[in-house]
Amino acid sequence: MNASIVLLPGDGIGPEITEQGRRVLQKVAELFGHAFTFESQMIGGIAIDETGDPLPQETVNACRSSDAILLGAVGGPKWDDPSAKTRPEVGLLKIRKELGLFANLRPIKMFDQLADASPLRPEIIKGTDILFLRELTGGIYFGPSGREGSGDEESASQAMVYSVPEVERIVRLAAKAAQGRNNRLTSVDKANVLEPSRLWRQVAARVMEQEFPDVQYDVVLVDAMAMHLINRPADFDVVVTGNMFGDILTDEASMLPGSLGMLPSASLGSGGPGLYEPIHGSAPDIAGKGIANPLATILAAAMLLRHSLGLEAEAASIEKAVEQVLSDGLRTADIARGGDSIGTVAMADAVINSIK
Ligand code: NAD
Ligand code: IPM
Ligand code: MN
Repeated sequence: MNASIVLLPGDGIGPEITEQGRRVLQKVAELFGHAFTFESQMIGGIAIDETGDPLPQETVNACRSSDAILLGAVGGPKWDDPSAKTRPEVGLLKIRKELGLFANLRPIKMFDQLADASPLRPEIIKGTDILFLRELTGGIYFGPSGREGSGDEESASQAMVYSVPEVERIVRLAAKAAQGRNNRLTSVDKANVLEPSRLWRQVAARVMEQEFPDVQYDVVLVDAMAMHLINRPADFDVVVTGNMFGDILTDEASMLPGSLGMLPSASLGSGGPGLYEPIHGSAPDIAGKGIANPLATILAAAMLLRHSLGLEAEAASIEKAVEQVLSDGLRTADIARGGDSIGTVAMADAVINSIK
């Protein structure tokens, strides 16, 4: 297979980990007889520095004509001034919107080898296997916002807006995912307070009743969900929720396997290229040190092969290799819990050497 892959390294540890993802994909191509071409484009802070725009048109064009996109992370203290004209994060939000990537799949998979990397007790996290579907192009992230007045009179607002079709399509996708797993779906909202959550709950209930009567369905309020996630994570199968709740709950959920550095994600729309990225950010505190965990990005590369290129065996070969290096006892600092650790490149080397 020939495939063109756009790399969006971005900022902080982004370039370090994206390069490891590229090397892994290249190794898969060689082993399985595919030809992947890679093209790097700018996004985020680096794009602001070079062009003034966190998402240059050239980047959008390259992404549109690609088969899939692998992204590192954007942002950092350099661009954090709250009064700045634009921000790195705008680039990420815009590329998701431009490509219509409304569904963000965030699997929370436990690695038995990492049972002691989690701050939670082994008997609590045992058996946890959750697939989050985070709505990605709507809600409060994209609602009308602004500021009014000045000085002590100044106020700011940002509205959470959801429409019926936006809820329908993400719930449908989540329900289909549940059918392919353990047939259970949990929808998370804040319907006791927020109007868009009440719409969400009504639409989700209708879709489930009319189209997926076979799927076991329940609803949980987001504050309670934050608690259930660390108290009884193994009870959940597929979880669907809005943009901001999904952002927060999945960072929380990263503590089940033990580190943000282990969690990949896939952002998908209807047709068009998918975008694959770790769920973590640019980790400015460790950028440039060569110690970032590349496994989230490497696992995102596996999701790219599976979801955008239909290469299931190739995707599985990466996932098996990751399991192998963990079984061999190799750890980056974030999952070493104070024990011996290796760096970003050494971890990627070990994965590459384990791909069969
Ligand atoms: P972060 O995810 O970058 O880091 C949180 C903590 O996790 C840090 O201590 C970091 O060192 C650690 N960490 C993250 N990824 C790691 C990895 N691969 N290996 C080892 N440790 C890792 O979150 P933050 O510090 O709140 O945000 C930093 C910047 O990243 C901000 O500008 C934020 O907007 C941006 N951000 C970007 C994305 C993205 O591009 N998708 C996601 C989240 C945050
Ligand atoms: C993520 C990040 C982004 C988000 C930021 C950087 C815009 O936190 O991908 O989870 O909030 O969606
Ligand atoms: Mn986030």
